[in-house]
Amino acid sequence: MDEKKIKELIKEAFIARRNAYTPYSGFNVGAALLCADGRIIHGCNIENASYGATNCAERTAFFKAVSEGIRDFSAIAIVGGPKDEEDTVSVDAYPCGICRQVMTEFCRRDFQVIIARSESEYQSFSLDEIIPHGFYPDALL
Ligand code: THU
Repeated sequence: MDEKKIKELIKEAFIARRNAYTPYSGFNVGAALLCADGRIIHGCNIENASYGATNCAERTAFFKAVSEGIRDFSAIAIVGGPKDEEDTVSVDAYPCGICRQVMTEFCRRDFQVIIARSESEYQSFSLDEIIPHGFYPDALL
């Protein structure tokens, strides 16, 4: 993906992050999921007083998309950090293990995962790099 598109996706992740619901951790995460047809789906983390019921930003984006009939994805940008940080964050918010596993269900091994601190500071990985030897649907289907 070219530099301009990556910056746009990161910008969308920061917009998604504004809706994070985090009364317990104060750690706000936003995700922008790029679909093969060019649509961008937002996700944010949504916490719960029963902590285990919390949903991560990445899974929110995937589940929103899949529930709307979208199953073909190219990339995701993720931004996360303390809620007082706005356009730049001080943390590399790597996706948790459960979110990585959800990605393997719907994405190819070359799906691009962008972890950003700002529109100009980011790292890019393939899904295969962040979940090596992943358990993909082709093991069963
Ligand atoms: N969180 C995410 O949204 N994505 C991740 O991949 C890691 C963690 C959220 C969950 C919780 O609301 C907060 O970050 C602190 O764990």
